[in-house]
Amino acid sequence: MLFLCLVLATITLRKPTEAEEVARFILQSHAEARVFALVGDLGAGKTTLIKAFCKVLGVADHTSSPSFAIVNEYRTGTGDPLYHFDLYRLKAAEELDGIGFDEYLDSGHYCFIEWPELAADRMPEDALQLRITVVGNGTRTITLRKNFR
Ligand SMILES: Nc1ncnc2c1ncn2[C@@H]1O[C@H](COP(=O)(O)OP(=O)(O)O)[C@@H](O)[C@H]1O
Ligand SMILES: [Mg+2]
Repeated sequence: MLFLCLVLATITLRKPTEAEEVARFILQSHAEARVFALVGDLGAGKTTLIKAFCKVLGVADHTSSPSFAIVNEYRTGTGDPLYHFDLYRLKAAEELDGIGFDEYLDSGHYCFIEWPELAADRMPEDALQLRITVVGNGTRTITLRKNFR
């Protein structure tokens, strides 16, 4: 069976400080998107980019990688919840049921997910996939796709 996967854009991030500008561009050009699946190796820059999304969306408190919790919840500048998932330490898919993962995704609030591959079958079809590739010294390429699978 053929799965179509449309590449929407490829963005070059030359240094971490450009992350905010990139996050703003992505939010503006995909204003309807709420679920963002960030794919990339360890150290690719997933957390860095999510921090930038949080900043642009007005999250005031410090955003770190949720190294122990699967999900961290923040408040945007408009007081809405924003969820940051890191599925890296997920041991079994049942853990996702335990935290109500699907409900978060359906909530209509912003969800940013690191290691979404570990929940691929639960990703909504309209999730925006951001694949980060290390190109070299400080440079990253971000490829935007619709349709996670
Ligand atoms: N262009 C870039 N974009 C994002 N991070 C970068 C970039 N260049 C270098 N880095 C560095 O790479 C590291 C990425 O770490 P992190 O965001 O925690 O990755 P991940 O969450 O994908 O494991 C950070 O130390 C960051 O400073
Ligand atoms: Mg991370």
